[in-house]
Amino acid sequence: MRPVPPPQTYRVKSFGCQMNVYDGERMGELLDAQGMAPAAEGAEADLVVLNTCHIREKAVDRVYSDIGRLRRGDGSAPLIAVAGCVAQAQGDEIMRRAPSVGVVVGPQAYHRLPALVAEAAAGRRALDTDMPAAAKFAALPPRRRVGASAFLTVQEGCDKFCTYCVVPYTRGAEVSRPFADLVAEGERLVDAGAKEITLLGQNVNAWRDERGRGLEVLAEALAALPGLARIRYMTSHPNDMTEGLIAAHRDNPKLMPFLHLPVQAGSDRVLAAMNRSHTVASYRDVIERVRAVRPGIAVSGDFIVGFPGESDAEFAETLRLVDAVGYAQCFSFKYSPRPGTPAAAMDGQIAPEVMDERLQALQAALQRSSLAFNQAAVGQRCKVLIERPGRRPGQWLGKSPWLQSVYFEGDAAIGDLVEVELVEAGPNSLAARLLVPAPA
Ligand code: SAH
Ligand code: SF4
Ligand code: F3S
Repeated sequence: MRPVPPPQTYRVKSFGCQMNVYDGERMGELLDAQGMAPAAEGAEADLVVLNTCHIREKAVDRVYSDIGRLRRGDGSAPLIAVAGCVAQAQGDEIMRRAPSVGVVVGPQAYHRLPALVAEAAAGRRALDTDMPAAAKFAALPPRRRVGASAFLTVQEGCDKFCTYCVVPYTRGAEVSRPFADLVAEGERLVDAGAKEITLLGQNVNAWRDERGRGLEVLAEALAALPGLARIRYMTSHPNDMTEGLIAAHRDNPKLMPFLHLPVQAGSDRVLAAMNRSHTVASYRDVIERVRAVRPGIAVSGDFIVGFPGESDAEFAETLRLVDAVGYAQCFSFKYSPRPGTPAAAMDGQIAPEVMDERLQALQAALQRSSLAFNQAAVGQRCKVLIERPGRRPGQWLGKSPWLQSVYFEGDAAIGDLVEVELVEAGPNSLAARLLVPAPA
């Protein structure tokens, strides 16, 4: 690699889950602290950080096409850093396949990004995919740039080893950040303007503090911050839903009535083959207990169709589960074999046409479910946190307590928490009427 002047401007492109987005924000803050600045809209950046996701094959393909696309007409390219979970899983391969990449940095090592960038600018390609437990956060600068709704990573990694999933390999073992650090970061976020904090973790409800206390204790401490109006958390694992956390949905008024609880499949045989370590019945029991303390709570989930060996009858059980639970919104995916995971080597890989059919059937059922949930909310009054302007002039888009997208017109601004009446429902959003004008 030829040496280049130290980069002055950067762009971070995040492709993955919320935690990946959080990491992207923090990498930006690190580069800011070095005196760099985000490249202006439309302008070329001296440094491009591709913050990648390894969860499904498609996400990985994007990385290489993106690297290719960064090449300019004259054959030159910005300094490219590949970060995120693909960097962790395929760092050496990226270095071999893509000579234009100057830096490869894993999700647990990105606090060293500025040093790695300096190396690459000096002409030495640099790779760091170490996983020093929890060293990263201590080395990051304080939070700065946040919107009204902010992410806060409280827990990283996964010990569950579902047979289809790369996360335990790309993120490492479950590590919880200390209670005091999280409250301090929460305070910074609120000082910087956050009204809502979403606590993030691969298994966020596996978070424990130094004394073994669970997420409800952290949520309670954050609820004491006067400027903070809303607390959310994701993603939860059904087996880590403790009584204490369930009770918090009754006792903590700032904890929003929304629970993202992936199930993946509606057949116990498939769940066992996935190594999910819960059954359909134990999953439904968790939801029932949460609903008992917080009636009307919105439940969402993740589904995988076409796991190896999934029969038509087993897939039909997934559809039945969807009808039985009544989801507010969900994510659904075709199974994607991931290198190195046990499921990739299993017999009974499902044909693409069958996967397509099942995904369509599942998504139709999920749409019906979301529509029913949203229709039931019509006529209710609720608060909406405004996130951005809507498509039409004078229109705003925000989130209800149940994480529904709500749009309405009126005198308001991004970051306002306004009172509305929900007037019309679709499967993916609701129209509302502004009741209380935002304070001037
Ligand atoms: N820790 C969370 C989610 C992790 S990944 C959990 O356990 O629920 C987010 C979602 O991606 C998963 O819930 C799953 O639905 C999906 N996913 C993970 N690996 C996948 C694979 N190999 N193919 C298709 N979807 C996958
Ligand atoms: Fe992946 Fe399963 Fe861990 Fe979720 S619980 S991150 S799906 S291994
Ligand atoms: Fe993707 Fe890594 Fe998140 S694989 S889903 S960016 S944890």
